[in-house]
Amino acid sequence: VKHRPHDTLGRPLHDLRISVMDRCNFRCPYCMPRETFHENYRFLKSHERLSFEEITRLTRLFVDLGVKKVRLTGGEPLLRSNLADLVGDLTAIEGVEDVALTTNGVLLAQHAVELKANGLNRITVSLDSLDAEIFKQMSGGMGDLDRVLEGIRAAQEAGLAPIKINSVIERGLNDHTALDLVERFRGTGVIVRFIEYMDVGNRNHWSLDRVVPSRELVARIGERWPLHPVQENYRGEVAERYAFEDGMGEVGFISSITNPFCGDCTRARLSSEGVLYTCLFARSGVDLRAPLRDGASDEELSQLIRNTWLKRGDRYSEIRSTLKNGEQPLRKIEMYYIGG
Ligand code: GTP
Ligand code: 5AD
Ligand code: SF4
Ligand code: SF4
Repeated sequence: VKHRPHDTLGRPLHDLRISVMDRCNFRCPYCMPRETFHENYRFLKSHERLSFEEITRLTRLFVDLGVKKVRLTGGEPLLRSNLADLVGDLTAIEGVEDVALTTNGVLLAQHAVELKANGLNRITVSLDSLDAEIFKQMSGGMGDLDRVLEGIRAAQEAGLAPIKINSVIERGLNDHTALDLVERFRGTGVIVRFIEYMDVGNRNHWSLDRVVPSRELVARIGERWPLHPVQENYRGEVAERYAFEDGMGEVGFISSITNPFCGDCTRARLSSEGVLYTCLFARSGVDLRAPLRDGASDEELSQLIRNTWLKRGDRYSEIRSTLKNGEQPLRKIEMYYIGG
């Protein structure tokens, strides 16, 4: 076994998040606002995206360097044809302990069984509201709530448990519908997690007053269904977990704004065109596709990944609040491109 790299803050490389598709069938205003991502927007051409063979080869190298968890994201990963084949390739890699998928759920009903059969361990569905109108608005007019709910049901039936729901909360938009989500999924085994609206990318008009601090939601939910905090599942878990006192399961809170978790961040991100990023808020990354297609050896690629990780010092969420306006990164990567 090779020596596992730790970054400049002592953090090992443990998770790999792979964006397999830059396109999406939603236009969530906080991620891919319509005014930017219109009909003529230039998405990647298919030869620009890493092939399944390329993704699998790179993943193997990442696993040699310490990665145990892999998450497939997008854009919308289920827009990539034959995604289940890739799941099969990745779960077959020795040393991979967990392969998960983050999806908006629209295409899930038709793929759930196949994904499970190919070894997918877990699924996370993004769902911001059960109010059909608000849901539609928050997906940029594209989302069909019933199809997403059908997708969740299909995933449950296929045995892709435990299913998690990620819900981005924006003040004044969907915060008043947060409790409906809890009510609906409490006791079903589905874990709802609320995400503080983040300043990812450059185009989503983020402002701090649209963030609902998790502690506010914890209090509101706890008033109705008493809660107690529970121990994290693993070191560096992104969500803070709270269990219902009545045994009806748990809810999670992802508080990247009010309680940043960079200290334990062990995540590398690979874009669909093969650029390696060491932070969700990185300004630039390291291109792995060019060397890959120029015939680099495994050893050379592995060195490139290792050296990138050794140099890593990212902790954007921790320093965000200390940045003055003029010091904000000028250009960050976009969420649709890196997949959250
Ligand atoms: P589990 O393995 O189920 O715990 O998944 P996870 O919580 O690591 O992954 P998921 O994709 O469900 O993450 C949920 C959301 O948390 C993402 O969509 C992002 O909005 C946010 N998030 C995840 N990782 C990071 C991170 O490294 N930094 C920041 N700032 N936010 C993150
Ligand atoms: N803030 C917080 N979460 C976001 N996501 C996308 N954009 C943002 C943002 N600005 C989440 C989606 C999905 C995941 C891929 O990232 O809701 O759950
Ligand atoms: Fe698509 Fe997810 Fe971005 Fe919404 S948040 S536009 S579903 S990638
Ligand atoms: Fe990791 Fe960057 Fe997110 Fe901090 S801001 S948790 S370093 S991805």
